[in-house]
Amino acid sequence: MIPQAVIDEVRQAADIVDIIADYVTLQPSGRNYKALSPFTVEKTPSFVVSPDKQLYKCFSSGKGGNVFSFVMEMEKVPFIDALKLVAKRANIDISRFTEKKEQRTSPEEQSQTELLRWTAKFYHDTLGREAGAVGRTYLSTERGLSDQTINNFGLGYAPDAWDSLFTAAKRAGMAQEHLVELGLIAHNKQGSSCYDTFRNRVIFPIFSVGGQVVGFGGRILQSDPQAPKYLNSSESAIFEKSKLLYGLHAAKNEIRRQERAILVEGYMDVLALHQAGMTNAVASCGTSLTRYQAKVLHHYTKRVLFMYDADRAGQKSMMSGIDILLSENVTPSVVILPEGDDPDSFVRREGREHFLQFAEEKMLSFQEFQLRYFTESGDFAQSDVKARAIRSMAHTIALIPDRIRRELYLQELSKKLDLSLSALQELLGKEEDATEKKRASFEQRQEISAPRKPEPKLTVLEKTFLKALLESTNYGNAVLEFAASHEEMLELRHKEAQEIFAHLIRRYRNIGETPDARIDITSEISSFDNPESRDLASALLIDPPISNKWLEKSDVHADNAKRCLAMFLDAFKNLILEPLVHQKNVLTEKIRVENDTEQEIELSKEKIVLDKKIRQTSQELKKMITVILETS
Ligand code: CTP
Ligand code: MN
Repeated sequence: MIPQAVIDEVRQAADIVDIIADYVTLQPSGRNYKALSPFTVEKTPSFVVSPDKQLYKCFSSGKGGNVFSFVMEMEKVPFIDALKLVAKRANIDISRFTEKKEQRTSPEEQSQTELLRWTAKFYHDTLGREAGAVGRTYLSTERGLSDQTINNFGLGYAPDAWDSLFTAAKRAGMAQEHLVELGLIAHNKQGSSCYDTFRNRVIFPIFSVGGQVVGFGGRILQSDPQAPKYLNSSESAIFEKSKLLYGLHAAKNEIRRQERAILVEGYMDVLALHQAGMTNAVASCGTSLTRYQAKVLHHYTKRVLFMYDADRAGQKSMMSGIDILLSENVTPSVVILPEGDDPDSFVRREGREHFLQFAEEKMLSFQEFQLRYFTESGDFAQSDVKARAIRSMAHTIALIPDRIRRELYLQELSKKLDLSLSALQELLGKEEDATEKKRASFEQRQEISAPRKPEPKLTVLEKTFLKALLESTNYGNAVLEFAASHEEMLELRHKEAQEIFAHLIRRYRNIGETPDARIDITSEISSFDNPESRDLASALLIDPPISNKWLEKSDVHADNAKRCLAMFLDAFKNLILEPLVHQKNVLTEKIRVENDTEQEIELSKEKIVLDKKIRQTSQELKKMITVILETS
């Protein structure tokens, strides 16, 4: 167990704004920051970060929490790993708490992240040993990588043996079954033993944006038609190739600074470009660019420069990549490399200066590239094929979410093709309709598949009650103390609301013994069992404080505390009275429609009893509240 005080220290030292800014571009908005949500695809920002409260809330997906839950969500890691990452970022050494633990973890307790980290270190260390000499020669002599690049990207070597990883893992007490799940080792046919997936390959660890190892690529040393050039470890929740961009962890700051990313195809291209100082290069890893990757890029920049291989396959991938980037509001441009080159071979032969000069001179807008692509396919010679090519370019423009930009690109196209703007506008109109229809049916599908919750909604009263309770923790324990001693009087109907209520009271009872002990609500929310409770609490906390509602200007702590308490007690009173009043309304209605006189008399008697109960309860509660407010 890591002491709560250490966790709080890390949380307070790490600014949530700094950490979230590693993943999305934040814009100041009043006291808060806004951004496009990293959790959903959206066009208008609904993701809010509050530096005052050190919380975030995404109003389109509902997710919210503190710095730890954010890192857990983004990096798909358990709490302990999120804590380590945040501590590292804040320069706080927590190794005295974590390392001891790590040595003692049993194989069952090892997380996937821990195993991936260990495996990366094994391959990297192997590269430095005698067994790794062939790997070293390959990477440095044949591929021209410096020791610095090799170390920065943690490159490694898997020896030419059946079981080097397997044996080393066994010796180190690492969980074999997990290594099988990760696709790093496999059972043999008889199931009697295991063998390594990567053998005699150089290893490229693949990192998340936060710099954690999530998977591996392994390249064969000599080309062999019998074996694939690259192998990858298995796909899993943490390693989804379609969502990752190789090199982004090392490139993100430079992408922001230059407001441009260079997008290449392969691992080697990223490494060669970074080594030559173009540290804004990332790779889509061979597959064609996905919507998800485009969305990730959009968090860092609005401009992407494609530099795929010069072959036809590379050009085709760029054609589809252009559509994908544009629909995510990113503007692509293209550099076509000389025949037979990829960025790695080109920069190695020509050097940095020439590379940059070439890129600047040969850079094509996406429309110029499309035109060239169709012209070179010979399509423009025949008029019917030419019409199809033009339609395809109009289709691309229709994908751009912004209307004005669509119009500008259309004008550009009209000039380039020497076609009337009105003809193109008509074409665009048709494409827009088609795109709109597609979008609408997509959204409809989303809506239908969204799970419907039959559970009761959070009422205004419950919301006020809970917000006052959460907010009151800033002012001491008066409200908690009251709530704890009257807990049994009240059960909130809303599930998450009740969970938050019960959790806080439980926590208060735990710390109750210690004088002056406080609940730090921002830390507390990471220990909620149910993430939906955390989401709700974050939303309530990020709303403007309840205590602001009375006096316009009051910075007086005590006044705010008192107002918060008053608000809480008022909500508390009404929550208790509400079901009674509801019962009364039901009875009144029953009496109104009852025809049987005898029954009517019975019901009226019931109503009188209920009325009395309401009056009494109300008076008792009022008295209680007055006493509390006067003494606090
Ligand atoms: N790739 C893959 N599996 C393959 C081939 C390729 O996963 N069988 C991915 C790798 O991420 C690779 C990228 O596609 O980096 C580009 O492939 P390719 O152009 O063939 O490789 P290069 O990166 O140019 O590799 P090298 O220069 O080492 O030949
Ligand atoms: Mn290559």
